[in-house]
Parts: sequence; structure tokens; C-alpha cells
Amino acid sequence: MLKLFLTMAVSAATLAAATSTFAQPEPPDARAKAIVDQMTPDEQLIMVKGSFGWFSKSGDAVIAAGWVPGIKRLGLPSLRESDAGMGVANLMGKRTGDVATSLPSGLAVAATWDPDIAYRGGAMIGSEARAKTFNVLLAGGVNLVRDARNGRNFEYAGEDPLLSGVMAGQAIKGVQSNHILSTVKHFVVNDQETGRNVLSSRIDEASLRESDLLAFELAIEIGQPASVMCAYNRINGVYACENDFLLNKVLKGDWAYKGWVMSDWGSVHSAALAANSGLDHQSGYTLDKKPWFGAPLKDALAGGSVSRNRIHDMNFRIVRSFYATGLMDNPVPITPQAIDYASNAKVSQEAAEAGIVVLKNKGNILPLVLGARKVAVIGGHADVGVLSGGGSSQVRPVGGPALEIVPKGAAAAFARITYFPSSPLKALEKRYPSSQFTFNNGDDVAVATALAKDTDLVIVFANQWATESEDLVNMNLPDNQDALIEALAAANKKVVVVLQTSGPVAMPWLDKVAGVVEAWYPGSNGGEAIARVLAGDVDAAGRLPVTFPTAATQLPRPEIPGLIEKKNSKGEISYGLDYGLKAFDVDYNIEGANVGYRWFEHQKLKPLFPFGYGLSYTRFTYSGLSLDPSNSLQVNFTVKNAGKRPGIATPQIYASVPGRDGVRVKRLVGWQRVTLKPGETRSLTVRIDPRLLANFDVANQRWKVAAGAYHLVLGKSSADSSATTTVQLSELSIAP
Ligand code: BGC
Repeated sequence: MLKLFLTMAVSAATLAAATSTFAQPEPPDARAKAIVDQMTPDEQLIMVKGSFGWFSKSGDAVIAAGWVPGIKRLGLPSLRESDAGMGVANLMGKRTGDVATSLPSGLAVAATWDPDIAYRGGAMIGSEARAKTFNVLLAGGVNLVRDARNGRNFEYAGEDPLLSGVMAGQAIKGVQSNHILSTVKHFVVNDQETGRNVLSSRIDEASLRESDLLAFELAIEIGQPASVMCAYNRINGVYACENDFLLNKVLKGDWAYKGWVMSDWGSVHSAALAANSGLDHQSGYTLDKKPWFGAPLKDALAGGSVSRNRIHDMNFRIVRSFYATGLMDNPVPITPQAIDYASNAKVSQEAAEAGIVVLKNKGNILPLVLGARKVAVIGGHADVGVLSGGGSSQVRPVGGPALEIVPKGAAAAFARITYFPSSPLKALEKRYPSSQFTFNNGDDVAVATALAKDTDLVIVFANQWATESEDLVNMNLPDNQDALIEALAAANKKVVVVLQTSGPVAMPWLDKVAGVVEAWYPGSNGGEAIARVLAGDVDAAGRLPVTFPTAATQLPRPEIPGLIEKKNSKGEISYGLDYGLKAFDVDYNIEGANVGYRWFEHQKLKPLFPFGYGLSYTRFTYSGLSLDPSNSLQVNFTVKNAGKRPGIATPQIYASVPGRDGVRVKRLVGWQRVTLKPGETRSLTVRIDPRLLANFDVANQRWKVAAGAYHLVLGKSSADSSATTTVQLSELSIAP
């Protein structure tokens, strides 16, 4: 009788009220346990499975990525999940009329190297999610860029575990500052789209720990995401969502992760096996062969192949995250709230401006000084807007798309090539009222070239669209744009190329143009951001978060494993997902932990542009790299703005670390980002996380820093050495 009374009376609301009378609320663990203990066996099977929000009509489901029923009796809200790489994604926005602010792409934000910008961006998109009544943002993409052609590179934060982990971690922290939940995804080594559902990523444990897992580990430490999304692919033969080693041993064991593991949409293949291997929740179950965490899980429980404790733990992890993020104490409103899109667009614009990378600036053609000159703006639909990436992360922009093109072929049938209504041409015209701008779409090379001959300066916009569900077949700009740029460069010496690409592209015309600017997918106010960087209203501050190879032949896998060409009935070609592909392996042991710039150094290859590279409009000198007398894992150095303009420096510290194969390769171990006035000097410090100097010792399951001398380099990129020092370290052994 007493038990029944307790069960019915102690709801979440009562607990919240009771705890509010204490100075310190009870820790999330205790509060979550109290709730889950009250769940009936049937109730414990409710929140472990979610539907695809687009099609679920039940309860308070929203049209978005996912919906999970809550348990009203216990005060547990339903989960209303939206995709969110760059903003509240709304693929169905055309039908619902929903719009949102989009940040620039993940790579663009990573290119700022500014953790505060990443945080502010996350906080902004999280605030929109909350105002739209979502309480889960499927944000926080941290897969490493192992292949320049991965169709989802634009959603991620680059090739380096430290940079990626810090930037994604801060973005997650920003999202969750709204007391809503965020994910980190896609766990793990989901590093190409081709065959993502059938491929197995082959990689040895030490390499995995030192690369892709390290990026997740850091992002989780910093961001404390409510949930980790396991990926589609297999890792060393075992599906990510039924991978006991990754989920139970590494994530929940070694890292003591307390949140829940949700599957990607359509990535579950079993009930008992997945549940016992650490999966806590099946998302979008209609996309799987079976509603595994529905009746099959109930049967497994009845049959004893899954324990009641395990089901309790699954619920505990979900509910604990509600408390840990503050969602329970700050419930998301049930009716949509007003959103200040204009000020949110400024947050996005700030990130875009800081992430745009000036790659070439011959004769200081930038910042543009135009006066009354004639300027040709060519290509890239720059007259109407800026490009965005496709797939589940697609945001439908405020004001609606400026242009939406149906991609040729069938792979990304759900994706549209979407331009946000922020025209670089219009922004330039506004910024330079006395100059004479002429736009040409670049479709006819001869016409564009004739225009180029007749102008003082040419700004050519060159675009590369990428989308979830297919990889880029090569690293070239599509649609004859390379030929267009060649022709323009032959016609006019003053050509500035503005790239809007997912990630690295080849630049066969590089020597012939005066300027190259990588604008990525620049987000809601991308046109304004591009104009302000070209004009020098802000410094050219972006630094590459990925190496730009000269060509795909420099990549560890010159051909994309499993890539197949498919022709539709119209003869249109696409290169995509699975198309009946049989299981195959992607051999990531080729580069192992030496991803990106480390691969280039290991192989003694010279890239087109190195990781960390980017030109400023001013000139910095870096000097005085020295060990801090009080801490051998801390270095001090000096940065001076030796130029005539204010500017933003991003001094980077690399350590040359002997890999497990004995070859020394540089690793990024820290950086600073600082704004300096002309002539200003600043003393800066970087603390080194010893894991970045370590190799993973699989036999002893520990990070191990070998005793010896470590060469430290202060540079403007991974290829620069402005100052060096050496630190002597004794052997260090660190628990994972
Ligand atoms: C993507 C995830 C996304 C999910 C829900 C999947 O296709 O891989 O990143 O969160 O769909 O839309």
C-alpha cells in the first residue's frame, strides 16, 4: 500500500519542487534513479524507441527528424528531435513553412579556430530549437575528415582530433546552454557516405583511440552531450550500434559516459545483441527492418536474453540526461516562441566572417580597393545567394531559398541544391556604391570571358555542392568551372576566385589567378560575410581545419572504396550510398592515426595548402617559444602584429611525436587566437594535454608518453616553423 502511494505520488514535478527548497538540487543520478525506479515494466519500454518524426502522427509529434513519447504520469516530456548540424533543419519546411537561421558549415566554424564562436553558434541554434519547441538537437558532428570527398565533410570539424573535439564540444555546450539536449555523432569512423550501411571501417585499436575516438572523447569531455549517436557502418566487422567494445568498453567504461546511446536512423540490426552491446535507444525505428526495441526487445526481456537491469539502465541514462542538461527544471514551452532571426543571422555572419580563409593574395589584391572601377562578378549564382550543403542537416532559410535545384541523378533524392537568400553580389554593390558591377552567370565561357576582358577586376564564384548520402566523385569543381576560371584568368590578370565548397578542392588554375578565398558554405548571411572579408572590413581570419591536397592521388585512398556509378532512366549519373552494394572493408589502417596533415608529413607529400594555413591582411611575427618554468607541459610565446592593420592571429603549437612505427610526425597540441592592433605584442600560453603526446598502449590499455625529447614548433600552419623548443619528458602513463 505504502509502495503504491509512493509510486503514484512522487512525480518528477514533486521531486523538482522538493529539491528546489534546498540550496543544491539533488544530483541528476539520484533524481533520474528515483523516476526510473517508479516506471512499470511497460513504461520502461516506452522511451527506448523513437519514430521518424516526419511521419508520426501520434501525440505531440512534430514534423522533424524524430519523436519519442514521454511518460506524462512521471512528468517526463516527449522528445522532439530536430536535425541540427548548422541550424534547426527542416527538410519538410516547404510543406510546413518552417524556416530557421543557418550557421556556416561545420568546417567553416572549425576554420575560425575560435571556441567562443563555436559556443555562441551552438547557443544560437539551440535557442531557436527551444523556441520551436524542440528539446533535442541532433547536432555535434565530429567525424574526422579522412577523405576530402566525403559528402558530409561540411557537417564536421576537420581532420585533427584536438581542433575537432574542441570546436564540436563547444558547439554542443552552446546548444545545451538552452537546457535542451544535444548529441555527438556519428560514433564512429563513419568517414565516407558510399556504402555507409554496409561497409566496415578497418582500423587497429591504437590508431582508432589516437584519432577518431580522441575527437569524440574531447568533444564529450567539453560538451557533455546528453546523447551519443552510433553510426551506420561497422567497425572491424561489428556494427557501430551493436559494438560492445566501442559502446560498453570505451564510451561507458573508459570514458565513464553517463548519457544515452541513440542509434542513427536505420542503423539497428538486432534487439538483444544491440541492447547488451550498449545501445540504449532505437531512433527512427520505421527505417530499420524491425522495431527492434519494441516487441523484439520485450520478447528478449521475457526470454532472459536482456536483463531488467539493462532496461533500467537504458531508461536511467535517458532520464539522467534530462536532469543533467536542466531540461526537467526548465521545460521547453509547448507553444512556439518568437525568434529574433535578424540578430541570430548576425551570430551566423560573425562565424562566417571569422571562418572564411584567404588562400592566395597576390600583389595584395585583397582587401578590394575598387573606387569607380568596373567589376565583373561571374558564376556561382552570386546574384541571388549562397550555397548550402544537402541532406538531413539542410536548413530551410528565413525568407525561403533564393534558388533550389534538383540534383541530377538519384542518390540524394531527398536533397535539393539550396541557395540561401544572401547575395554576395548585392552585398558588394552596397559596400562599393561607386563601382560598376556586372553579373554574368558563367554558363557561357565565351560570354563570361568577353566580359572579363572588358573589366578592371573579376570575382568568380565557384561552387561545389555536397550532400549526405553521396560522396563527391573527385576533387574537381563540377560543371566546367575549372575551365571557366582558366579562361577568365587568361583574359584578365586580376581574377579573385571565391570558393563555396564542402571541403578541399583541386585548383589547377591556382598559379594563374591573383586571389583565392575559401568561403565554405557560409550560412544565413553568407553574402554579407563574403563581401566584408573581401572588403577588409574584418581581417581575413580563417585558418584551414583540413589539408588541401593537390589531387586525390595524394590521399591515402586515391579511389573511394566501393564507389559505384549509377545511371537513372534519364542517363543522369550519381555516385551514392548503397545501391545493393555488398559488405566491403575500408582500410583505414593505411594512414591509421596519421590523418590529414600527419599523413602528408609521414608520406613526405607537399599539399596544395597545409592544415592551419590562411593569410591575414596584416603581418604577424611569432617568437620566443619557451617552456614554462613551472610546468613542462606549458609553453609561452610572443605574437606581434608587425603590419599596419588590426588583425587576428592564430598561432599554433605542434609537437613532433614518435608514432608507434617509430616515425616522428607533428601533432597539433594547442593554439591561441588573438586580435592585435598594429604594432601590438602579446605574450601567450598554451597548455598541452599529455594525451596528445601519447600513443595508445593496447596491451596495458593506457595512454603512454614515451620518455625523451619532444620537439615543439610554433607556427602559422602545420607546415610553418616560426620558433621551436624542446621539452624533455619522463615516461607518463595515463588511464583512458
Ligand atoms: C543522419 C543523422 C541524422 C538522422 C536523423 C541520418 O540519416 O545520418 O545525422 O541525425 O538521419 O535525421
